Amino acid sequence: MSLSNSRYLSQRVATLKPSGIRKFFDIVATMKDVISLGIGEPDFVTPPAIVEAGINSLRAGETHYTSNSGILALRQAIAAQLQNSYGVSYNPTTEVVITVGVSEALYLALTAILNPGDEVIIPTPCFVAYQSEVTLAGGTPVELSCFIEDDFQPRPANLEAAITPKTKAILLGYPNNPTGATYTRAVLTEIAQIAARHDLVVISDELYDQLVYGIAHVSFPSLPGMWDRTILLGGFSKNYAMTGWRVGYAAAPAELLQGILRVHQYTIMSAPTPAQFAALHAIQYGQGAVAEMRSEYDRRRKLIVSGLNQLGLTTFEPRGAFYAFPKISVSGMDADTFAQKLLEEEKVAVVPGTAFGAGGEEFVRCSYATAYEKIEEALLRMERFLKRHG
Ligand SMILES: Cc1ncc(COP(=O)(O)O)c(C=O)c1O
Repeated sequence: MSLSNSRYLSQRVATLKPSGIRKFFDIVATMKDVISLGIGEPDFVTPPAIVEAGINSLRAGETHYTSNSGILALRQAIAAQLQNSYGVSYNPTTEVVITVGVSEALYLALTAILNPGDEVIIPTPCFVAYQSEVTLAGGTPVELSCFIEDDFQPRPANLEAAITPKTKAILLGYPNNPTGATYTRAVLTEIAQIAARHDLVVISDELYDQLVYGIAHVSFPSLPGMWDRTILLGGFSKNYAMTGWRVGYAAAPAELLQGILRVHQYTIMSAPTPAQFAALHAIQYGQGAVAEMRSEYDRRRKLIVSGLNQLGLTTFEPRGAFYAFPKISVSGMDADTFAQKLLEEEKVAVVPGTAFGAGGEEFVRCSYATAYEKIEEALLRMERFLKRHG
């Protein structure tokens, strides 16, 4: 019998768990007539003028590498937007790098700051990649459960209790995937005080910053004393419906950013050039399109939240991103069984909350980045499902 080739894998990689979402969607892909509330990306295609800008850049011969940091005009536009929206100042020459999505930016940030065994506290439920990216960068993820009673915001006392001598950073993601929670200024201020007291870095993933409903987004580096210790991550995937273009950024004080840039230089070189030109157009001229998409998400958000609550699935009001996070334990099923049976019996795909770490066990994620009419139909199917299992 031959030895398995998996023996060549590093321990770090061999212990990584496959994403809970992928496994589920491999099954969905084999089925017909499924209404998917499982998708984690906009159902809209990229607005046409942004697409044109990408194509035009190629036609104009922009087919080369850019500066490692990305095209300066894009860094300037991002710095200007952060200044205008949140009052935070970054020098576009030394404090911003364009990355291949927030996915890369997160990996760079973690690799730049972690020594082996350093702990990173992550409020959960959270984006599926956080824990594994910390592990890949040599750190140890420490999950901090959040609760529906707090609208899924971290409890400051629990955060402080999770800190050990090995804690290096807190990794925040808000507006949050999968809960749709945004963090209030009051909670963020308490987190900031804890970060200062224990001299921690804060990595703040604010990828959905423009997708908020009836509430203002508070950017973490804008809080008193936080600019110096924050690595801000943002991007174009969700706000502008540009997931496939793969553009994001990291912004941080120059000394931190230069470390981040070194990792980027040796792994990626530069983000895709036409995608950077498309992103530049998006940030300069795309605000109208963002407003239109946001208002359509908001319409769907209201439908799905009231619909789920009427079905008896307690759902707090998500104020950001495009996810609702209903509690499904009244069905008597755990999240995995609920999602599995709902798919098999009614062909509605939702993602079990277990995919997103501690605290998600009794919940499923329902994305409303899908057409209004499909959400209506999905709610009818769920009603039938719950009656049968009630
Ligand atoms: C919170 C969060 N961060 C990061 C990402 C990755 O985004 P990007 O497409 O910018 O790599 C996602 C994608 O779903 C996300 O939800």
